[in-house]
Amino acid sequence: MAVLCGVLLVIIMNDSFATHPEDSVRIEKRVGALLAEMTLAEKVGQMSQVNASDGNPIEGLADRLRAGSIGSILNQVDVETVNELQRIAVEESRLGIPLLVGRDVIHGFKTVMPIPLGQAASWNPDIVRDGAAIAAREAATTGINWTFAPMIDIARDARWGRIAESLGEDPHLASVLAAAMVEGYQGDDLSANGSIAACGKHFAGYGAAESGRDYATTNIPENELRNVYLPPFKAAVDAGVVSLMASFSDLDGIPATGNEFLMRQVLRDEWQYDGFVVSDWDSVRQLQIHGLTENDRESAFAAATAGVDMEMAGDAYVGHLAALVENGRVDIQVIDTAVANILRAKFRLGLFENPYTDPSSLPPIANEGALKTAKRAALQSVVLLQNEQDVLPLAKGELNSLAVIGPLADAPYEQLGTWIFDGDSSLSVTPLAAIRALAGDDVEVRYVRAMENSRSRASDAFDEAVDAVAESDASVLFLGEESILSGEAHSRADISLPGDQAELVRRVRARGKPVIAVILAGRPLTLTNIVDHVDAILFAWHPGTMGGPAIADLLFGVESPSGKLPATFPRMVGQIPIYYNQKNTGKPPSPDTIVHIDDIDAHAPQLSTGMTAFHLDAGYTPLFPFGHGLSYTEFGYREISTSQSEIELGESVTISAELTNSGERAAEEVVQLYVRDLFGNVTRPVKELKGFRRVHLEPGQTVTVDFELHTDDLAFFGRNMQLMTEPGEFHAWIGGSSETRLRTEFRIIDSD
Ligand code: NOJ
Repeated sequence: MAVLCGVLLVIIMNDSFATHPEDSVRIEKRVGALLAEMTLAEKVGQMSQVNASDGNPIEGLADRLRAGSIGSILNQVDVETVNELQRIAVEESRLGIPLLVGRDVIHGFKTVMPIPLGQAASWNPDIVRDGAAIAAREAATTGINWTFAPMIDIARDARWGRIAESLGEDPHLASVLAAAMVEGYQGDDLSANGSIAACGKHFAGYGAAESGRDYATTNIPENELRNVYLPPFKAAVDAGVVSLMASFSDLDGIPATGNEFLMRQVLRDEWQYDGFVVSDWDSVRQLQIHGLTENDRESAFAAATAGVDMEMAGDAYVGHLAALVENGRVDIQVIDTAVANILRAKFRLGLFENPYTDPSSLPPIANEGALKTAKRAALQSVVLLQNEQDVLPLAKGELNSLAVIGPLADAPYEQLGTWIFDGDSSLSVTPLAAIRALAGDDVEVRYVRAMENSRSRASDAFDEAVDAVAESDASVLFLGEESILSGEAHSRADISLPGDQAELVRRVRARGKPVIAVILAGRPLTLTNIVDHVDAILFAWHPGTMGGPAIADLLFGVESPSGKLPATFPRMVGQIPIYYNQKNTGKPPSPDTIVHIDDIDAHAPQLSTGMTAFHLDAGYTPLFPFGHGLSYTEFGYREISTSQSEIELGESVTISAELTNSGERAAEEVVQLYVRDLFGNVTRPVKELKGFRRVHLEPGQTVTVDFELHTDDLAFFGRNMQLMTEPGEFHAWIGGSSETRLRTEFRIIDSD
């Protein structure tokens, strides 16, 4: 083990908020001046967010707005209503403080991008940033100035329905994309027309819900919390995210909404965060249901003192905070800090200067550029999982007929995925429509839906589907899950294709024609029961408004697939949690130390295995690993090297490899860099993603791909929860998936 005296302690400072330092000083003065004028009731009002979607919100909220008892509303998207609510707040309340107007704009507003997990499969921060910027501009036309996104919970359990909203299992990938999303929503200038405040959620650990059951308990050792679950939040904070949302979940016995360690120690003391924290929907009052507090008053006390600045859709703050201050239990400083955090955001958004919305000042909804970006995002998010005998792309010239089968080929709403409150399914171009348009008159398209939805058990239409397949040169099956099967409170214990889809595959397969599965889903699925019955699998997630044209282009080879898995695909549910950056254990498995349950030696069962960490019925490998994704061309990696074999703490090393496109078509590849720190004062993962880059290569082209790694990039939280880089030996790999074997080594030496 490396000695501690040689470690480089990395000092954590949050020095950005995308606000010019002079502006920050000016804003702090304005915050202080306003705060000095506020009554306690007005302060508590700023800490309260109310739902504005019920009944007539103008009638229902006007008096409270005039009294200054509401700081924010959510879920109102009628621009005239929002402008009127703002007008009452600004013109009829004593201090004229404008409202934050919140909404879940998760992966698009009217124009819907792929689900976040799909966007993560693009491994492309630029497309993620562009998508968020479009969503912000569209949402801003309604007066929304704050989105509850990005969701940056690390998700290692595909049963969890909200994995769809996540950026996958990896801290590095999720961190890079989290920052890009924040930048997209908030723009270069938060006060510009069309920029909206972002909200990193759910702070923290929500994705570790036991058995993937939404809202269930999480138990995460502090070291793992810091090394795995917190980095995307730190990245969002560094990118200037205006707000964070506390998680619904219980973290190690203290629900996140009342968790002082998270919100005071980590967020404020260590990260110096000066944005604000909102609770989740009624999660302050739920502290009582968790069993942490006895009543709403104690819940308000616990949440406010732990660091929740604003309560979403609950009345514990409004009902109890003032009295808690008056009777001396809550220091007024706690309230002042919370209100300052909220006011700071309002000033940064420029709401005091421009509280109203003029939709005509913003670009039209679903304009050509937005749809183009949505298509590009979908194109880059689709992952080619397998392609036996290069059955894809379909050769248009040689194909006379194509059977298009399945419940998700022509389902405009379903392709949008979860969390699309405002998504407009009339804008969706379905795969069927796009295939027909692309195939033109050359290819006869025979469409049979075959199942009412993905969950159907009725197989009456299977014969018709099989006949269509029998008469066609090839068949494409659009399978998967409807949008309702993933998202909040939509977890599944069995994540195989629901309903009778596997049976449909078997029936179609029996005709002996090439079978291509295009899977639309909100999570990784266990595909073990169909993988050998189809030639190719394109995994399209829920690809959004322009999913159809993207899929059609990929099927016919107009474009080559370039998505890579942002989460491991298990063979079966019992393997979960399964993720690439696992620990080695003291008994790591290898092909020659494992045995299958069917091969156990009946006479000497105890001698059958090498006593290593695997499942008798599933081995230890996933069906498809993190980072996996094929192309229509051939990419070859070779000649990995390091610029130096030894570096000192504080220095950088460059890792390079040659990448050749030896196929016959131009394509993009996501090149991935993984590192292993061989020994640590806490054990380190067998591989960790440390860099990635999307590159375009012409046929025959070779490029050298370089990644510069500073020793800070190799820092981790060690035994004393300090961020440190330890001297010692490192392995580095470059390749097209987490299973790359192209390896080199370097060493960090102690400079003392
Ligand atoms: C509950 C969800 O957990 C959260 O992500 C969302 O932003 C709020 N509801 C508001 O809709």
